[in-house]
Amino acid sequence: MPDEPRVVFTPSGRRGPVVSGTTVLDAARGLGVDLDSVCGGRGICGRCQVVPVAGDFPKHGLVSAIDHLSATGATEEQYRSKKGLATDRRLGCMAAIRGDVVVDVPPESQVHRQVVRKRVEVEDLVIDPVIRLYYVTVTAPTLERAAGDVQRLLAALRDEWRLELDVAAAAVAELQSALGAAGGAVTAAVRDGDEVVAVWPGYWERALGVAVDVGSTTIAAHLVDLASGTALASAGRMNPQIRFGEDLMSRVSHVMLHPEGADQLTSTVRGAIDELIGELVDEAGVDRGDILELTVVGNPVMHHFLLGYDTRPLGEAPFAPATDAALDLRAAELDLAVHPAARVYVLPLIAGHVGADTAAAILSEAPHHADEVSLVVDVGTNAEIVLGDRRGLVAASSPTGPAFEGAQISSGQRAAPGAIERVRIDRGTLEPRFRVIGVDAWSDEEAFGDTPATGICGSGIIEAVAELFLCGLLDADGKFAADAPDRTDRMVADGRTHSYRLTESVLITQNDVRAIQLAKAALYAGVRLLMDHLDIDTVEQIRLAGAFGSHIDPTYAMVLGLVPDCDLSKVSAAGNAAGAGALIALLSGDARRDIERVVRSITKIETAVEPRFQEHFVEAMAFPHRSAEFPNLAAAIDLPARQQPAGVRRRRRSREASS
Ligand code: FES
Repeated sequence: MPDEPRVVFTPSGRRGPVVSGTTVLDAARGLGVDLDSVCGGRGICGRCQVVPVAGDFPKHGLVSAIDHLSATGATEEQYRSKKGLATDRRLGCMAAIRGDVVVDVPPESQVHRQVVRKRVEVEDLVIDPVIRLYYVTVTAPTLERAAGDVQRLLAALRDEWRLELDVAAAAVAELQSALGAAGGAVTAAVRDGDEVVAVWPGYWERALGVAVDVGSTTIAAHLVDLASGTALASAGRMNPQIRFGEDLMSRVSHVMLHPEGADQLTSTVRGAIDELIGELVDEAGVDRGDILELTVVGNPVMHHFLLGYDTRPLGEAPFAPATDAALDLRAAELDLAVHPAARVYVLPLIAGHVGADTAAAILSEAPHHADEVSLVVDVGTNAEIVLGDRRGLVAASSPTGPAFEGAQISSGQRAAPGAIERVRIDRGTLEPRFRVIGVDAWSDEEAFGDTPATGICGSGIIEAVAELFLCGLLDADGKFAADAPDRTDRMVADGRTHSYRLTESVLITQNDVRAIQLAKAALYAGVRLLMDHLDIDTVEQIRLAGAFGSHIDPTYAMVLGLVPDCDLSKVSAAGNAAGAGALIALLSGDARRDIERVVRSITKIETAVEPRFQEHFVEAMAFPHRSAEFPNLAAAIDLPARQQPAGVRRRRRSREASS
């Protein structure tokens, strides 16, 4: 056997000679290979599993053989029989290198492993754990050397892991009892590579985290294993603040009228998150005390309510937030009953009107890493919009109001069972058919039966208005056509105008159309302002985030001109992008640094003070737009002919041409 056998690690490709007898784990450390370990090479944790590969490797100039690693010893056998170890695997800390060998490090043995997840729409994330566990043996105190528990733990971590750390005050009592219970062998949780935040007696392998997305309507939370990224449970509930006001501004108004009520709004949202945590740990069968890390995202108002900041400045110009920086808080400060040393990372706000939820959406959608110019739109009471590519991002909030959520619509309602969510109008007979949430069949199918429609939700009203426009009952200015009542008896007199009777109880009124026009014009004008700032006339990709974005049909959104023209195959729902971003930030310290850097670099546009906003708004009142062309849309569907007003000049600049 050679004195200095060579080892090659895959997939990293790192290689080098080692002293014969070096363990695979030590060789990996020496060569900078990402191979995990919690127990420090004691054969307890099983995180260091590797797969030796036999064969001739001319590329590496060596012949690798399984028996170039030392034979399996008693500790490894014990691990294999107690916890199970695949036959082709070895514990890297137990297998010594005796000859040339190629060793594969499987993904689950890497600290910075990749997670592929479907449940909360996070894919291909490389974990960069904020919390890591280290198993150490702390020497017992003696009369001669009666150093404190904290000092002896730190010495052990220094000796065994070469870590220079502090110990969080909240972990000291836990350390005392852990040492008492385990005779010196403990597992320490280290946060951010600089502080011990928790200590368990003996070997411990569970550190959990919770990602929370605080929406104005719903709050969602996900419980994950911080080391593997495995989702253990998810839970969601209505935001109980709704009793103080349906939309955000009415909650802010409530506080303006009743300043003493602010605490109540804060305790309500904190209480709801704490209850969600209770649901998560019950579902996963784990302990609240195992939760060491949380991340929170939310719009600026929810962010301020949760943190106990005054929300009133967010309701009036210049809309200054209390802070727009990322925050690192103790969970106890937010009244969350988890591990006493657990921390809460709050993503940064982008501006007083563009929140941490949008920062999270940027993290998950990554427009700042894309070559294509992407538009990310999250429609709620305000539309939060981000536009750009790897060269830079611009962001703004547009005052769409709650019409897209079904509010301000005569028969409008929240997206809930019974609400009309899809609408089609026959181009010949002008008769409608529709679908309601909770029933798969269309209203003209037998299976629909006599299902009652209780109202119409945001996606339903958008489709209804778009269909009325496409079949010529509405003109491009959003007025019911003069001949509409002659063409169908679905048009019913309504004061000085008419309404379209979708069902016996659900009418689409002229005011409903107007409310949608105002909302969509605000959204389009905001997007157009951002395009002006980037000096572009087209966007290459559109991602519609949030619940609204998931339900809206991109074609109808474009027919009405909510968003600019774009290749329809490049317009898609982003799902719960904010929740996905919260999860990414929970699992990756790198991602936190990334989003903090990006948020600082974003150009923030305040629509309220931009002189061109009003101009864009007026132009955008028409369907799909007064002057902008929609060639991609026109190629996909038959749009009613439009009269081009004289003198409208199209700007035709590309960003490339101008940059
Ligand atoms: Fe823990 Fe190998 S490092 S079993």
